[in-house]
Amino acid sequence: EDGGPDPEAHHGHGRGGMGQEVKRKEDRRFITGRGNYVDDIKKDGMLHCHVVRSPHAHAYVKSINKERALNVDGVVAVLTAEDLAEYDLATMPTLMDDTQDVLVQDKVKFQSQEVAAVIATDRYIAKDGADKVEVKYETLDAVVDARKALEPDAPLVRDDIEDNDSNHIFTWETGDKEATEKAFEDADVTVEQDMYYQRIHPAPIETCGCVADWDTANEKMTVHLTSQAPHAHRTLFSMVSGIPEHKVRIVSPDVGGGFGNKVPIYPGYVIAAAASYVIGQPVKWVEERSENIQTTHFARDYEMTGRVAATKDGIIQGIDVDVLADHGAYNAAAQPSKFPAGFFKIFTGSYDVPAAYCKLDAAYTNTAPGGIAYRCSFRVTEAVYLIERMVKVLSQELDMDPAEIRRKNFIPKEAFPYESATGWTYDSGDYERALDKALDAVDYDGLREEQQRRLDADDDKLLGIGFSTFTEIVGAGPGKQCDIAGVEMFDSAEIRVHPTGNATVRIGVQTQGQGHETTFAQIVAEELGLDVEDITVEHGDTDTDPYGLGTYASRSTPVGGAATAVAARKVREKAKSIAANELEVAEEDIVWDRSSGAFQVKGAPDRGVTMKEVAFASYTNSPANEEPGLEAVDYYDPPNMTFPFGAYVCVVEVDRETGEVDIRKFYALDDCGNRINPMVIEGQVHGGLAQGIATAMLEEVTFDDNGNVTAGDFMNYLLPTAMEIPHMDTDYTVTPSPHHPIGAKGVGESPTVGSPPAIVNAVVDAMAHAGVRHIDMPMTPDRVWSVLNEAGLTL
Ligand code: CDP
Repeated sequence: EDGGPDPEAHHGHGRGGMGQEVKRKEDRRFITGRGNYVDDIKKDGMLHCHVVRSPHAHAYVKSINKERALNVDGVVAVLTAEDLAEYDLATMPTLMDDTQDVLVQDKVKFQSQEVAAVIATDRYIAKDGADKVEVKYETLDAVVDARKALEPDAPLVRDDIEDNDSNHIFTWETGDKEATEKAFEDADVTVEQDMYYQRIHPAPIETCGCVADWDTANEKMTVHLTSQAPHAHRTLFSMVSGIPEHKVRIVSPDVGGGFGNKVPIYPGYVIAAAASYVIGQPVKWVEERSENIQTTHFARDYEMTGRVAATKDGIIQGIDVDVLADHGAYNAAAQPSKFPAGFFKIFTGSYDVPAAYCKLDAAYTNTAPGGIAYRCSFRVTEAVYLIERMVKVLSQELDMDPAEIRRKNFIPKEAFPYESATGWTYDSGDYERALDKALDAVDYDGLREEQQRRLDADDDKLLGIGFSTFTEIVGAGPGKQCDIAGVEMFDSAEIRVHPTGNATVRIGVQTQGQGHETTFAQIVAEELGLDVEDITVEHGDTDTDPYGLGTYASRSTPVGGAATAVAARKVREKAKSIAANELEVAEEDIVWDRSSGAFQVKGAPDRGVTMKEVAFASYTNSPANEEPGLEAVDYYDPPNMTFPFGAYVCVVEVDRETGEVDIRKFYALDDCGNRINPMVIEGQVHGGLAQGIATAMLEEVTFDDNGNVTAGDFMNYLLPTAMEIPHMDTDYTVTPSPHHPIGAKGVGESPTVGSPPAIVNAVVDAMAHAGVRHIDMPMTPDRVWSVLNEAGLTL
């Protein structure tokens, strides 16, 4: 009767449904200064926590003297690991089955690790108190480089693990080794390239924090938390603390950006909760910027070697990858898939590759733990970077056009659903259409002519054109492949239509700026024929919202959006029966007219009833066979991931005198299936591209040999400003997901995932005529200048 929204049509019938550029409902409060973030939460008797951190990266804690701190007027308590041990809270489990000290028990393993915590009547007193805590350390040699960490005489980071004598954590393999070796033996040509995807940090505008409030009368713990996954955090809080789950309430108010940084549980949360429990007053902990960069989870840090085997015509026959992953001092990567390296497994990208194999080793170092999915699906960013760089390397080896070699190797659109060599079933794609549109839009031939003209004229500035024709994997996930602490990764929605025809929608996913209050209302508006203004979306309170696994890895639309559409269809099903009763016809004689958002009698289009009228009837005149009321809930376990894709083109000018790279054009075509709100998507792409450009050009968390973080604040960790971000052109194609109820795929992370290789490919392309094959990120002027100089291209 109703096959769902038409992919190409702009729907919405004026009510703000699918495809409409509805202005974000949440922006009214944000732009009038009425956002409500964790640090805005104030409670009677609230205390403040400041954490004492180690100045050393590797050291035994010999003693901690609290005396002077306790003498500071206003300091209420000083906590150490010993104090937490009394409550069995000295350690906490990580998301990768490791155990992390909440406060250091014996040995510091990375700089700025949590050693003690001062609780005081205000934030400044807590900080003054922290300065007065005397800690004696015995320093040790540190190791901050994963490769050096695996050398036999490297300092041992984890002597707390029984029988552990090395910094090696695990080896993980995927694909078919033999078939891949055979492909290399038979190949006309093979290429190999080392590359390092540097350590970066999500650096959300709002740092991490919480207000923990133990209610001694009701024995209930309420934690306002900067959380991307409130329900999963409630379960973890309950598991760690032993407080029954129904007595734990996590409230995630407005969240100022997450990008994966707010998925893990951090020691600060546990300390604040423990302090509130012990003292019986609310305790606030909000970290400072440098604490955020230096101690909360980092992203990437993959050293990769890619090898490609191909025919002389450029048809890829095999891909072989070797990775060394730095996981920091604890194995704490926040990735809930069943694979230790998450979705790195998708490293064959958009290409029809018959044989592929990857081996990955992970190592401990004296650096903060991490490996989070910074605006990406669990290592898909590293995978996309690898394959998109390798295709460019191969094109140079064969002296073939980088667009053409992509076209030759694309999975053809007829091949979907496509089974990849590493075991994924890609749901849908049309890569060639996207590439064609991109080439046209940027006038590719014209750009190549200009590039040649500049070379002929020995111009001061070299022109480079870089591509990334990537495939993403989002929507974690089928519960069988993904879980958090055993909880399968479904998501949920509950829709309650009120008598006067407006609705409250509660969802299990958690916005951090993505606009769910608007786009999820649009899904319901589309499915129920209600006006988007009549729908309120709530999330972020575990006492009232249905259980969900949170928002990261662009899973909200694929999973939570699906749950919302299905819940709405359940409402519609019941509404149909009520409509039949109202119109005094049999239910079989009722049809839902999506365009007018009303039920009609078959063959009598003038006889109908709107959803608003049905809502009223459901409370005032419900039929004998139906309960009163109009609501439904859905828990949606997706049958598969969704596989959005893109065709990005970056055009750069490289200054031969200074090594400065100017991004002259960035064109991003994204295909995320059916689009709910094109304006929100465009905003997502703009933000993601800014982060991808920052990765390629500016950002890196660096350390000196002693483990001191040398880029641990915004003076040294170079977040871009509007000045560094070029104009961006966005575009789209629509290839619906065949298994998603509204044909939508995720989009939020595509630009961060897809853009870095396009930019690196462009810079390499500018220097390719001189034999340059690779340059590592971030492509700072001094690094680019050195490569130019080595290639004899400097002026
Ligand atoms: O999980 P997360 O919200 O970060 O990512 P997403 O599912 O890609 O959604 C980001 C924003 O884009 C949400 O507001 C979505 O509803 C919106 N979106 C859309 O309008 N149409 C799509 N096909 C995908 C996302």
